[in-house]
Amino acid sequence: MPAGSVLAKDSFIVGEHGAIAVGPLFLMSKGAAGSNAVRRDWTYTMIMPDGSVREDAGIQKFCNDCHRRAGAEDDNLMFLPLPYRVTTSN
Ligand code: HEC
Repeated sequence: MPAGSVLAKDSFIVGEHGAIAVGPLFLMSKGAAGSNAVRRDWTYTMIMPDGSVREDAGIQKFCNDCHRRAGAEDDNLMFLPLPYRVTTSN
C-alpha cells in the first residue's frame, strides 16, 4: 500500500442474550517508507465506542504481532477469507 493509505474495519460486540453493541473501529495507517521496519511502516489505532483513541506502544505490539504474520508480500494485510468477500464479478 502507498504511504498515506488508511484502512478501517468496524466491529460489533455480541453480549449476553444476543444484545449487539458497537465495538472498536480498527485503523491501519501506512507511514513513509522506512519509518518503522518492525511494523512495515504501519501504525495501528483503535477508536473505542466512547470516542477514546488507543494507539500506545502496547497496542502497536498487540496488533503487529498478528498482522505481521501476513507477510511482506501481503504488506501485513489479512483480508477476509475468500468465501466471505463481496465482489462485483460474480
Ligand atoms: C490475532 C490476530 C489479529 C490481531 C491481534 C489484530 N488483527 Fe486486525 N485482522 C486480523 C484478521 C484475521 C483480519 C482479516 C479478517 C477480518 O477482517 O476480520 C484483520 C483485519 C484488519 C483490518 C482490515 C485490513 C486487513 O488486514 O484485512 C484492519 C484495519 C485491522 N485488522 C486492524 C487491526 C488493529 C488496529 C489491531 C489492534 C488493535 C488488530 N487489527 C489486531 C487479525 C488480527
